[in-house]
Amino acid sequence: MAESLIVDQNLSKEEKYKALVPQIEALVTGETDLIANLSNMMAALRQGMGFFWVGVYFNKEGQLVLGPFQGPVACTRIPYHKGVCGACYTRRETILVPDVEAFPGHIACSSDSKSEIVIPVIKDGEVKLVLDVDSDKLNDFDEVDQKYLEQLMKLVESWY
Ligand code: SME
Repeated sequence: MAESLIVDQNLSKEEKYKALVPQIEALVTGETDLIANLSNMMAALRQGMGFFWVGVYFNKEGQLVLGPFQGPVACTRIPYHKGVCGACYTRRETILVPDVEAFPGHIACSSDSKSEIVIPVIKDGEVKLVLDVDSDKLNDFDEVDQKYLEQLMKLVESWY
């Protein structure tokens, strides 16, 4: 297992993902525990991409429940019909929110959060979890984030 990450913070966003994704793949190779791998993946994403908040919510007990994350403390339970995470669960697709204040029902775990991207992991027809990434800047996520984060969520899907 790789023990440290190297991502030059002067690179463009796409170059950072290109440097980081193979390092994350190496980090999780040989480990089969879901929580251990998600924990390292969240730490690597925060460290490598400089995200304000990054974490997962598991679909369990009829709602979305906080799992491994990095960043400020967050809400622990989200009903399926609430927030961007709930919308992602219901629509079963990636949701990009350039301005969280303009998203009806957005849940503000932190008042510093300004934009957000949420990606589902779907296996055997069921949403297993959603990945939530928050930024303290408006309009901070785009199709580049979507492409690489969806690629990482395919890897997570393969663990189920
Ligand atoms: N903003 C999310 C809630 C989770 S936190 O941002 C960590 C939402 O609206 O679903």
